[in-house]
Amino acid sequence: MYSVAIMGATGAVGADLLRTLERRNFPVASIKLLASERSAGKTLNFRGQTHTVELLTHDSFEGVDLVLASAGGSISTEFVPSAVKAGAVVVDNTSAFRMDEGVPLVVPEVNGDAVAGHKGIIANPNCSTIIMLMALAPIHRAAGLKRVVVSTYQAASGAGQAGMEELLEHSRHVLDGTPAPAAEKFAHSLAFNCIPHVDVFLDNGYSREEMKMVHETHKILGDDSIGITVTTVRVPVIRCHSESINIETHRKLSADEARAILAGAAGVEVVDDLARNMYPLATRAAHEEATFVGRIREDDTIANGLNLWVVGDQLLKGAALNTVQIAEILAERGLLAAKAKA
Ligand SMILES: NC(=O)c1ccc[n+]([C@@H]2O[C@H](COP(=O)([O-])OP(=O)(O)OC[C@H]3O[C@@H](n4cnc5c(N)ncnc54)[C@H](OP(=O)(O)O)[C@@H]3O)[C@@H](O)[C@H]2O)c1
Repeated sequence: MYSVAIMGATGAVGADLLRTLERRNFPVASIKLLASERSAGKTLNFRGQTHTVELLTHDSFEGVDLVLASAGGSISTEFVPSAVKAGAVVVDNTSAFRMDEGVPLVVPEVNGDAVAGHKGIIANPNCSTIIMLMALAPIHRAAGLKRVVVSTYQAASGAGQAGMEELLEHSRHVLDGTPAPAAEKFAHSLAFNCIPHVDVFLDNGYSREEMKMVHETHKILGDDSIGITVTTVRVPVIRCHSESINIETHRKLSADEARAILAGAAGVEVVDDLARNMYPLATRAAHEEATFVGRIREDDTIANGLNLWVVGDQLLKGAALNTVQIAEILAERGLLAAKAKA
């Protein structure tokens, strides 16, 4: 049984972390819910009991075995070192440490063994990266990825609780024919819109979100030779990221072979029955642990090409679930054991 702290417990990911720890019956001896002064004193439920949210400080980690950090990159940069110093192991859901050497970047179904070398911090990859790799890693293992061209359709909740609320508020204004307030969480109003702009733009013309998907994929698959080009788009969907992925493999895979490989992959469900209009949908994938893959078809413009449509709940598999799965591996392998309470 472990003493667990959640940084960012009141956020969109925080809510799913609590539900996921509960649902998967993670061995929690005690739980500490941490947030900013905005939420300190509020109460949240965990396993039928009420817990008061505490202000996150550098002293919050005394006696804590496991920290699940989900309060934003700058907060992790500031507070995670204090947690590690206090002897806790941190699974960090932000981009603060993902590309640091010595910090494992882990999708359990893809490279779970990488947790072994941790030095106190294990990073959870970007949500769009996780969802893409759930589909691509099994294909990479079977046929070798040469090139990936991906466009994302990312939900408003990827920008947190406030992102979801802004989309709903702006949508109501459009439906009522009243002027919406200025967009704050997105560069433009997301209501009835698609915005090809997630995170900030970089000098190379790509957004940081797009380059995260490139660099993180190379790190997780341990292969920098894969060509990856990404366009990330925010769409007016509440929950679940969808991705249109075109791949070129070293070895030819037929659509049927790819379907069979994906059907046998852990954490993946193939939904691909065109006669019944069955393909992955954000509305169906919401609150589900699996990543869904469909529209699997050969790209006949190249020798070894495939097209896929992939959908996953980015608050679950893209964040909370992946984080808890990492914690489960740490617990199973005794990698949290140093300070664990009997
Ligand atoms: N949303 C997603 O789909 C997703 C997916 C993968 C990763 N992530 C990452 O997860 C992190 C959280 O995202 P989210 O979507 O849950 O955001 P969110 O809904 O905006 O929640 C942010 C959380 O961080 C807390 N927080 C903010 N500033 C703080 C401070 N100064 N001190 C202590 N706590 C503070 C907030 O507490 P208050 O209630 O006090 O404001 C809240 O609990 C981000 O790094 C994000 O990039 C998000």
